[in-house]
Amino acid sequence: MVTHSPAETRRLAADLLRELQPGAVLALHGDLGAGKTCFVQGLAAALGVHQPVSSPTFTLIHEYESTPPLYHADLYRIRDADDAYGLGLDEYIDGDGFTVIEWAERAAELLPPDTWHLTFEVGADLTERTITIESPNRNPNS
Ligand SMILES: Nc1ncnc2c1ncn2[C@@H]1O[C@H](COP(=O)(O)OP(=O)(O)O)[C@@H](O)[C@H]1O
Ligand SMILES: [Mg+2]
Repeated sequence: MVTHSPAETRRLAADLLRELQPGAVLALHGDLGAGKTCFVQGLAAALGVHQPVSSPTFTLIHEYESTPPLYHADLYRIRDADDAYGLGLDEYIDGDGFTVIEWAERAAELLPPDTWHLTFEVGADLTERTITIESPNRNPNS
């Protein structure tokens, strides 16, 4: 999927939200500036969150009291999965909210098998982003 503006990326998030079950975990991959936080802003807006959504780079996890709640983590500054446990990330993941994790590969061992993986890449021009969405395998027997 290619988007051509931040608004389009937010709209893509709102569209994806309709496919998510409460408790879903989304791992967002991609460089700084690739649009991960923009995507989370789209999720939050679609959930009716009115607060501004920014990367939780220093606090590491933000909680938004939507229904279901939205948990937004950014693991850019963690060293390893132990740090993520220290943040209680495993408990957020086990909860019934949506847990969305920027730089999720830094705590890969915490991610459940039914994690959605989204990869963000900067495109040829300033506002182009390629967003690849891998939905979890819903049929583990196949
Ligand atoms: N198509 C697009 N989708 C998302 N962001 C875009 C797009 N085009 C330009 N941008 C800009 O790129 C930046 C993305 O920043 P951000 O979402 O914070 O990235 P990340 O969280 O991946 O570091 C923002 O300044 C945003 O305005
Ligand atoms: Mg970010």
